[in-house]
Amino acid sequence: MTNAIKKEIEELRQVLNHHNHQYYVLSQPEISDYDYDQLMNRLIVLEKAHPEFADAHSPSQRVGNDSNSDFKQITHKYPMLSLGNTYNEQELRDFDKRVKKELNQDCQYACELKYDGTSISLSYQNGKLLHAVTRGDGEKGDDVSQNVKTIRSIPLVLNPGSYPERFEIRGEIFLPHKAFEKLNKEREETGENPFANPRNAASGSLKIQNSSLVAKRRLDCFLYNLLSDQLPGDSHYQNLNLCKSWGFKIPSERKLCQSIDEVWDYIMYWDTERRNLPFDIDGIVIKVDSISQQNQLGNTAKSPRWAISYKFKAEQAETRLLSVSYQVGRTGTVTPVANLEPVLLAGTTVKRASLHNADIIDTLDLHLNDVVQVEKGGEIIPKIVGVKTELRKNKAEKILFIENCPECGSRLVRNVGEAAHYCPNSKTCPPQIKGKIIHFISRKAMNIDSLGEETIELFYQQGLVKSVADLYKLNREKLMPLERMAEKSVKNILTNLELSKNVPFERVLFALGIRHVGATVAKNLAKAFGSIQKLREASLEALTDVEEIGEKIAESVREYFSDPENLELIEFLQQQGLNFEASVKAAESDLLKGLQIIASGKLQKYSREEIKQVIEAHGGKAVSSISKQTSYLLAGENIGPNKLKKALDLGIPVISEEDFDKMLAR
Ligand code: IVH
Repeated sequence: MTNAIKKEIEELRQVLNHHNHQYYVLSQPEISDYDYDQLMNRLIVLEKAHPEFADAHSPSQRVGNDSNSDFKQITHKYPMLSLGNTYNEQELRDFDKRVKKELNQDCQYACELKYDGTSISLSYQNGKLLHAVTRGDGEKGDDVSQNVKTIRSIPLVLNPGSYPERFEIRGEIFLPHKAFEKLNKEREETGENPFANPRNAASGSLKIQNSSLVAKRRLDCFLYNLLSDQLPGDSHYQNLNLCKSWGFKIPSERKLCQSIDEVWDYIMYWDTERRNLPFDIDGIVIKVDSISQQNQLGNTAKSPRWAISYKFKAEQAETRLLSVSYQVGRTGTVTPVANLEPVLLAGTTVKRASLHNADIIDTLDLHLNDVVQVEKGGEIIPKIVGVKTELRKNKAEKILFIENCPECGSRLVRNVGEAAHYCPNSKTCPPQIKGKIIHFISRKAMNIDSLGEETIELFYQQGLVKSVADLYKLNREKLMPLERMAEKSVKNILTNLELSKNVPFERVLFALGIRHVGATVAKNLAKAFGSIQKLREASLEALTDVEEIGEKIAESVREYFSDPENLELIEFLQQQGLNFEASVKAAESDLLKGLQIIASGKLQKYSREEIKQVIEAHGGKAVSSISKQTSYLLAGENIGPNKLKKALDLGIPVISEEDFDKMLAR
């Protein structure tokens, strides 16, 4: 029986590795996502039931697990150097001359794209991924293996081949444009700051201390440098071809060039073609192809003498500033936007540029009708980087930041130490009212998905809804007469509103839209205070004692609760049955005194925060990594096989959620 299971597990791993490679490396899927998930689920179930067959290289590791410990530092076997830069044809030709002079013979150049992400060094031993380390200071970096295992295009186990017993392969982890846009959209929905560009998003993602969150980011990785004491051949280009056959995602846009003229053609080609790539590059890397020639040239302290990068210029265009308009967000923040004479830049027509705040307008000393230089760097929205003051007409009108709200006329406020202006009229300023309601119903808040922006706009226009409280006053009689409202949608809306009463406190708190209180802050506040009543009574000191809460947020929370209208709203929502208390109450006891408990995997009754609270409320210690001191491993659904194996190896009892509840019922 167990033999048959072992065999099934091994077969599943093999099949999943194959489909993984087809999909993520070759982009040629052979089965549907659904079938893939079915196979993966079966493997997870079998591995969970049979921890004796656990394997750190199983494809099931790709789903991540939720409690990485702090990153360990690992010293690079070969230091991670950087590259010298060139910016024009002359500098490139100078590099070629230096190389040829030093070599005293001809050479070939391998040209590659310069991926704009974050570099990574992967070590393999006997065909298995050993660890993944960030560049760090070039000498040593962070061990981010758990996070990197979630990147589907990185093989955990190699295809059969003649790879060296031990080698390192380096490359760039990046976020393709599509994944970047999706991520930023989600962040805006949860009140988190969007990433400025895919590069920041990629490096930020790698540092998350929770690999199941990293798994959702859909990072990708191109590999471009093989290092070993036993390299297969003398050509870098050919070695990478071999790496491809072992299962690595090696870029196809490489070219082996016979002369520097050919290199220049390659550069010129990609200078325009890069716009059609689904990811960012910021230049071209030119490498002497022969490894023995590379060794002959050697390295300086910082960079190799056998390679150089050619950096593309950030694309710029000149156009005219037509006007500045101001947008009011849901928390009243006023953002200036430059309206430009349409101009072609990096393949798209640019009509607007972000100006961020009043300081930027001042620094640029913007005047109406100015000829401005716009630039599109790694950022999605172009920015104004310069003004041609010499072309300005004598009596040109200086751009002055507006003093009153463009929507409601209120005098704008600017807090000391903050760059942004905002409209203080949160009660009747239309975009603020609508924005607050739209935020309240959004997916990560109350998740009332039968209502959308358009419906809220319609309700607002009809005078039906002027605050979130009004949502809970809606009924069939009010909705049916509206245009385009069918029986079914009315029913859906009312049912969804009813269901929203089950949404947990932390999300209700987020939904209230308190300035600076995003999803994570709301979670921390809910955990720390447990109820709206306690939160309302909390002093500034008590608030700033909470994880990740600084003075700015604390003050904003105090200000929110000092407004009688907000208190009235909360009271009304409480009467409607919304949750204003965390579901787990600290029922203090000594039942778990002296015990160290680690919870892992998805639990039925508790969120990660809640289980911690319960353990601690009963005198226990909630820990995040297994050691000999651990008393119990509380295993939930989809628990990582690593954890299970480690617990079994150390003889630590594994308990279920039911066992845990029984311990508390004593
Ligand atoms: S080779 C010794 N090849 O550029 C240098 N680097 O400025 C080995 N990069 O840290 C690097 N694309 O993160 C190489 N095709 C490519 C690259 C590349 C992007 C990054 C890499 C490196 C940085 C150097």
